[in-house]
Amino acid sequence: MSTLTTATARDAFIGSLTAAGLDAPWMEPGPLIRPKASAMQARVWRWADIEPLVRRTPEFMAPGRGAERRIVRLDNPGVPERTAGHTISIAVQYLLPGEVAPAHRHTPNAVRFMLHGEGAYTTIEGDKFVMRRGDLVVTPSMTWHDHGNEGREPVIWTDGLDSPVVRYLENLAMDPYEGEIQPVRTGPPARHLHYRWETAYAELMRRSAGAADPFDDVLMEYLDPATGRSVVPALGCYLQMLRPGVRTRAHRETSSAVYHVVAGAGATLIDGVRHAWGEGDFFAIPPRALHAHVNDGGAPAILYSVQDVPLLKALGFYRVEA
Ligand SMILES: [Fe+2]
Ligand SMILES: [Fe+2]
Repeated sequence: MSTLTTATARDAFIGSLTAAGLDAPWMEPGPLIRPKASAMQARVWRWADIEPLVRRTPEFMAPGRGAERRIVRLDNPGVPERTAGHTISIAVQYLLPGEVAPAHRHTPNAVRFMLHGEGAYTTIEGDKFVMRRGDLVVTPSMTWHDHGNEGREPVIWTDGLDSPVVRYLENLAMDPYEGEIQPVRTGPPARHLHYRWETAYAELMRRSAGAADPFDDVLMEYLDPATGRSVVPALGCYLQMLRPGVRTRAHRETSSAVYHVVAGAGATLIDGVRHAWGEGDFFAIPPRALHAHVNDGGAPAILYSVQDVPLLKALGFYRVEA
């Protein structure tokens, strides 16, 4: 119905729609469902930039009530909420010897991956997990958790959260715990929330003897042994190895990812742009970006990543295009 009426009648009709809280999208030119480019941008965050800044944060902040966590968040220039991705929030957390990050609980799920220092722990619902380098610890939605550093040097880990998803779903909430830290229970933990480096690395080595993945070389996902599912409903965590000389095939996925370089160096080609990375760096791959990984060096590169693949799969939106 393009020329059926006058402009005045049309304006009056739009006015009536608006007054009634309605909108007729066909009154605007263009297709009904308009493709939207990804706001999330490909980028690299350098450990050489992150580490000195993180180590200065105690000058400005002491963790306690009202300042729950001493974190520095990865800021993606395309994401309005300033998280690493539109579904994934990534932070680097720092605790000095003797410090405690007081207990709280919140709707977002979180995954910690230990980077530096000895003596860090996370207590989840009374179960205390000591986090060594390369360990992964999951704090499921609404579980009480506090962190501490019982060692003699500062500790650094990276947090991955599904908080942007929870925010989108209008359910972002956090409760403080009564008291600073939870009492610790004895005996075996109630749930499997601690994935040790030795176990994950051994599994990666075992897989390296088998057939290579054309897009990721050697890849394993951390899976909850109780359910066989991803460690967090919306987010999957992965450990992968790019062997020396490997150039993976390029693919596009509808999911997005944030990587951390555990060891080694290499590059990822994202939509034709080469993003070189080295140990400690982080990098982000937006949805539907064509990406391939390269290891030109003489040593294996080990990558840890958080990806929203489980969320896309649950909603029926996960697609891969080689
Ligand atoms: Fe938390
Ligand atoms: Fe991929």
